[in-house]
Parts: sequence; C-alpha cells; structure tokens
Amino acid sequence: MVTEERVREILNPVKDPHIHKTFEETGAIENIKIKEDKNHVSVKIALANPNSGEQLQLQQEIVGMLKEEGAATVGLRFTELPEEYKQAADQESEANLIGQKGTKFISVASGKGGVGKSTVTVNLAIALARLGKKVAIVDADIYGFSVPDMMGIENRPQLRGEKIIPVERFGVQVISMGFFVEDNSPIIWRGPMLGKMLTSFFKEVEWGDLDFLLLDLPPGTGDIALDVQSLLPSSKQLIVTTPHPTAAFVAARAGQMALKNEHQILGVIENMAYFESTLTGQKEYVFGEGGGDKLAEVLDTDVLGRIPLQQPYDEEDIFAPGIYQEDHPTGKIFLSIANQMIKRA
Ligand SMILES: Nc1ncnc2c1ncn2[C@@H]1O[C@H](COP(=O)(O)OP(=O)(O)O)[C@@H](O)[C@H]1O
Ligand SMILES: [Mg+2]
Repeated sequence: MVTEERVREILNPVKDPHIHKTFEETGAIENIKIKEDKNHVSVKIALANPNSGEQLQLQQEIVGMLKEEGAATVGLRFTELPEEYKQAADQESEANLIGQKGTKFISVASGKGGVGKSTVTVNLAIALARLGKKVAIVDADIYGFSVPDMMGIENRPQLRGEKIIPVERFGVQVISMGFFVEDNSPIIWRGPMLGKMLTSFFKEVEWGDLDFLLLDLPPGTGDIALDVQSLLPSSKQLIVTTPHPTAAFVAARAGQMALKNEHQILGVIENMAYFESTLTGQKEYVFGEGGGDKLAEVLDTDVLGRIPLQQPYDEEDIFAPGIYQEDHPTGKIFLSIANQMIKRA
C-alpha cells in the first residue's frame, strides 16, 4: 500500500520539464489522494507549461513510478504554476541564446511587404543608439533581406575563432542573410534550414553587450515569425502598416498571431502616413487615413508614431540610402518613437 508520504517522496525530485526545477522547488504537488480499498492514487500537479508534449511524456513516467511503488491505478491532474515561473524560464533560455541577460527583444512585423518594415527597423535601431542604447539588428527577412543595403554596409562580418562578429554601422550591430550570399543571387531555403539559420544568427554570433535586439521579420505570418515567437518567448512586437484600411486589415493578422502566442504588442507604427508639401506645408493623405488607428484599436494598443513620405537628406560622404539623419524631421519622429519604446519595453 502506497502512502501519501511515500508518493511525495517519490515525486519531489521529479523535474518540471519546462523549467528544469524539481517539484519540491516549485511546490508542484498540490494534492495527493489515496483510495485504500482500490489502491488508487490520484495526484494534482502544477506545471509551468501544462498541456504540452512534455507533459504527456512526464505523465507516463509518473504513472510508471507510482505503479512500481504498488499503486494499482493512478489518476493525474495538471494545473498551471503562476506565470512568473514560466517568464523566468523563458528569459533564461533567451539569455542562453545570445549569451547574456537583460536584452530586450523587439520584432518588427507587417502584414505585407513594401510597407516600410525594414525602414522602420533600421531607423528605430539607429534612434535607440542615438539615445545611448546598445543595439543590434537581426535581419530575419531571409529571402527579402535589405538591411545591409539600406544602411550602406559594404563590409562583411569577420570571424573570431568559431564566432561571427557582426558588422557595426551607425553604432548598431548588424547580422543579415545578405552577408552570406554571393552576388545577390536568390536563395531557396526550406523550413528546417530556415529554423537553423535563425538559431545560428543568435548562437554563432558574438554579440557584445546589448540593451535591444531588433528583428526585421519577413512580411506576413509565415514560419519564421512563428520560429521567432517560440525562440524568443518574451519578445515584443511592433507592427508596421500604411494608413490604408486594407493594409491595416492585413497587418492585424500578424498582430493576432502574436497575441495568440502570448506575445505582447508594443505598438503600431503608421508609415507613409502622409505627404507634406515643403512649399505650402499642406498635408496630403496619399495612402488614405485611419489604418494605424484602426489596427491599434483591434490589437488593443497604441499608434507610437506616424512617419511621412519623405527621403533622407542627400549626403555626399555617407552612403546609407534608408537612414534619416538625426536633425531630419523624420529622424526626429524616430527618436520620439524610440523614447516611447524604451519606456514600454
Ligand atoms: N516613409 C517613407 N518615405 C519614403 N520612402 C519610404 C518610406 N518608407 C519606406 N520607403 C521606401 O519604400 C520602399 C519599401 O520600404 P521597406 O522598408 O523596404 O519595406 P518592407 O521592409 O516592408 O518591404 C523602400 O524603397 C523604402 O526606401
Ligand atoms: Mg524589408
């Protein structure tokens, strides 16, 4: 006959498969009941991440252990540990990924291509650097990489031992698929390779100390966006849209996917929001109006900034076609968005 005490003794050293802490440490065993006449043991256990594949395996192991101890039948019920346990574990696995703690991960997403996702990623990263933050960009748009071109990066990353040293420009560390492709030739990657590529971008790169790591995601809701969400569970998302209501509608899908995966949305950025005539100062809403507000409402967040249609100033000595200067009106808008990000992230 199994006793309650014995059950506790057997289960205490078992580890929660998600956070690798013992049941004793997390206080996972909430309840033990023993029906002596039927020799039935039932246990209620709190896990960090119940209803997962890990739980199924654990379930079998525990049943086996208790039956070996003499229980005729075993009933298990699982509940969820307080959220802090999962958060702490998530942050730990992210810290392992880039070899340091305390970095905030921000992914930049959009519903479709061409809305200015890369422009926003790059200029926000530079704005954060201008505000004194240590910043990196992972250009995770593996087919459509454009970060190196936008920033005018011409050199390639160096190797130090086994590690890749990211390229630094305007105070921002950059890693992009574009660095590893010859002659801009198109690449065909398949799902599993893509997943690996992304992990390598984190693990095999020697990231210095970082406050922020921004990810330029491919447009839409594909595999990579999902990989990022599972690889970086505490990452927060910025959504870029144009002011056209249809564009906002498409962007909402990307946001809803993040929410479904319990990722916080930091805010919406409306790009190409208007065109302001330098002659008359009059604003023209060339791509319509209201898309950003509508999207923010659907996703229960805020519009952090509206970026007009405008080119950076021409500069003779610095070639970086997508970068707005610090004293450029658009550069100032990016600084204001970066300040809000620092408060919210
Ligand atoms: N606010 C803007 N004003 C003028 N041109 C812009 C603006 N935002 C983006 N662009 C241009 O639009 C094109 C698409 O932007 P990009 O950032 O590459 O979009 P995405 O990454 O979403 O595909 C680029 O040529 C970019 O320079
Ligand atoms: Mg892009």
